[in-house]
Amino acid sequence: MIRFENVTKKYGDDVILDDISFEIEEGEFAVLIGPSGCGKTTTLKSINRLIEPEAGHIHVEGRDIMETNPVALRRKIGYVIQEIGLFPNMTVAENIGVVPKRLKYKKEEIERITRDLLDMVGMSYEEYADKYPSELSGGQQQRIGVLRALAASPPLVLMDEPFGALDPMTREALQDEIIRLHKKLKKTFVFVTHDMDEALKLADKIIFMDQGKIVQMDSPDQILENPASDLIKQFMGKRISGSGSAELTAGDFMKPHPVSVYKGEGIRKSTEIMARRKIDSLLVKNEDNSYAGVVTIRNIRRHGKDAKTIGQIPTTPNAVSHVSEDAMDSFDKLLDSDSDFVVVLNDDRTIAGIVTKTSMARAMADALWGDEA
Ligand SMILES: Nc1ncnc2c1ncn2[C@@H]1O[C@H](COP(=O)(O)OP(=O)(O)O)[C@@H](O)[C@H]1O
Ligand SMILES: [Mg+2]
Repeated sequence: MIRFENVTKKYGDDVILDDISFEIEEGEFAVLIGPSGCGKTTTLKSINRLIEPEAGHIHVEGRDIMETNPVALRRKIGYVIQEIGLFPNMTVAENIGVVPKRLKYKKEEIERITRDLLDMVGMSYEEYADKYPSELSGGQQQRIGVLRALAASPPLVLMDEPFGALDPMTREALQDEIIRLHKKLKKTFVFVTHDMDEALKLADKIIFMDQGKIVQMDSPDQILENPASDLIKQFMGKRISGSGSAELTAGDFMKPHPVSVYKGEGIRKSTEIMARRKIDSLLVKNEDNSYAGVVTIRNIRRHGKDAKTIGQIPTTPNAVSHVSEDAMDSFDKLLDSDSDFVVVLNDDRTIAGIVTKTSMARAMADALWGDEA
């Protein structure tokens, strides 16, 4: 879908993009991340020719963009920026319809698209279509910015720190929505952020940049497990093992109240709980509430016919930690085991919570960026 070949961009003597090459597949959710000034925005704007590099080639959908008319090119590319840029004297519906209207879509068609899009982010057409941007919250305005970029159904959407100015709660809600939109619409998304938490949550592929170069390009899991440089480690929260935060424990990072059942629980009820909570393994506890083990759906399938209660299903070895264990040690346990999570226990061996890769990454990101949020 997008291919950079040895792209170099300079301002005077400053090399902003330093001979970078990468590919983004069709339908992929790619996230560009790196410290401020590393060249993320420059990379993004090179894709829709708002910036033209001095050397190298950029292909979009198999064509060199320098051989494509910039207006035609941008028609195929949605673009969302942090400072929203909604037209203040246009209504929500007019804002969303701006590109389709320019492309001479029929009025009814534009209304249908607008309805569908608003529906996808849980804003009703009746309530919002005629409102003006100033009547919306920041989160709602940013949603409209995203919908506007999607309105003419471009195959590619570029987003430059679109949620950067939002409060953490709103931001999480929009992240969930953008994941849903991506799944549903199957478009290629290129998303810029400097928040590792956000990158890990959204990306199929993370492209980590530093000083105009690509330092690592990998899946979130790969980045978590094998960060390619000290800077990336730092983004992932090296500070938790550093001074001043050595006291951080598994208890600080865990998700409390994980789903658990007593050994005596029936098989049918247990699998219903798993289906409803969308989990594929279950924490099992003894009658005195102490931790008994982890039972996977796989073992239930294999042994469920011969068993009446979940306690009769063989448990699967799983990493275990203690609430007061050093956070970094329990993170190592997670990475060194085959477990999807670490079970965190209290002194009396009751279940305190679980540490997942996501909760760990999120907590680390908070440690790094929490002050800025
Ligand atoms: N028009 C410009 N003239 C000179 N330098 C620029 C210009 N635009 C950006 N830069 C420099 O290019 C570098 C990369 O900028 P940018 O791509 O915006 O970084 P990021 O989005 O990663 O924060 C920065 O050092 C910035 O100062
Ligand atoms: Mg930028």
